[in-house]
Amino acid sequence: MYQKISIYAFLITIIGIVLSYFIGLDKECLKHPIRTFVHICTLVFLEQKLTFAGAIRKLVYLLALLSFIILAVTGFYPTLIKGEHISGYLIMIHATFAPILAICLAVLAVMWAGKSIFNTKDWPWFQRFVERVTLVKINEDSSDKKSRIGQKIGFWLIIFLSLPLIMSIILSMLPYFGTYWQELFILMHRYTALVFAIVVLIHTHLIIIAQIRQ
Ligand code: HEM
Repeated sequence: MYQKISIYAFLITIIGIVLSYFIGLDKECLKHPIRTFVHICTLVFLEQKLTFAGAIRKLVYLLALLSFIILAVTGFYPTLIKGEHISGYLIMIHATFAPILAICLAVLAVMWAGKSIFNTKDWPWFQRFVERVTLVKINEDSSDKKSRIGQKIGFWLIIFLSLPLIMSIILSMLPYFGTYWQELFILMHRYTALVFAIVVLIHTHLIIIAQIRQ
C-alpha cells in the first residue's frame, strides 16, 4: 500500500514539475535547454554579491538538500524499488544523515524565516478583506518586489513537517510505547517522509524557476 501510494505521489509530482516547463511561463527555459541546464548547475555556486550571512545560509541550504537526497534515497529505495524495509548499511547511512538534516533545518528556520514572512504582495485579496473588515488602510509593503508565495508556503510546510518527521522516529525509539505504538510512529514517519519529500521537490523547483527568471 505505502509502496503504491509513494510511487503514484512521486510520479504525479514529477510529471507536474516537468509539465510546468512545457506550459505557462516556464516554457521560456526550453527555448535554450542547454543554457538553462548550465544555469541550473551554476545555482549551487556562491554568488559574489552574497553577504557573509547569505553565504552561510546558502551553504546550510545546500548541505540540507544533500542530506535530504541521501535520506530520501536510503529511505525510499528499499521501499519503492525492492519492496522491503530499510535495513543494514542503508539504515546506518540514513541514521547518520538524519541529525545533519535536523540541524540544518533548525538553522534555516532561523536564518530564512525573515525572507519567508508573508506580505501584502503575497495575498492582496486577504489585505482587501482585512481592510474591509477593519476599515483600516494597510500600507503597501514595498520591500518585496514580487510575490514568492509558493516558496514561502513551501518553506513553512518543510519546517512544520520536519517536526512529526523527526519526532515520530524519536518516539518510536523510546521504551515507554508498546509494539503497536512503535509501528504507528514508524508508519507516521513513512507517510510524513513522503509528504515532506514532495514538498521539498516542489519548493526546490520553485526556487530554481525563480532564480532562472532573475
Ligand atoms: C531527519 C530525521 C530522520 C530520522 C531520525 C530518520 C530515521 C529513520 C529510521 C530510524 C527509520 C527506520 C524505521 C524502521 O523501519 O525501523 C526510517 C525509515 C524511513 N525513513 Fe527516515 N529518518 C529521517 C528523515 C527522513 C527523511 C527526510 C526521509 C525522506 C525524505 C525519510 C524517509 C524514510 C523512509 C521512506 C523510511 C521507511 C523505510 C521502510 O519502509 O522501511 N526519513 N527513518
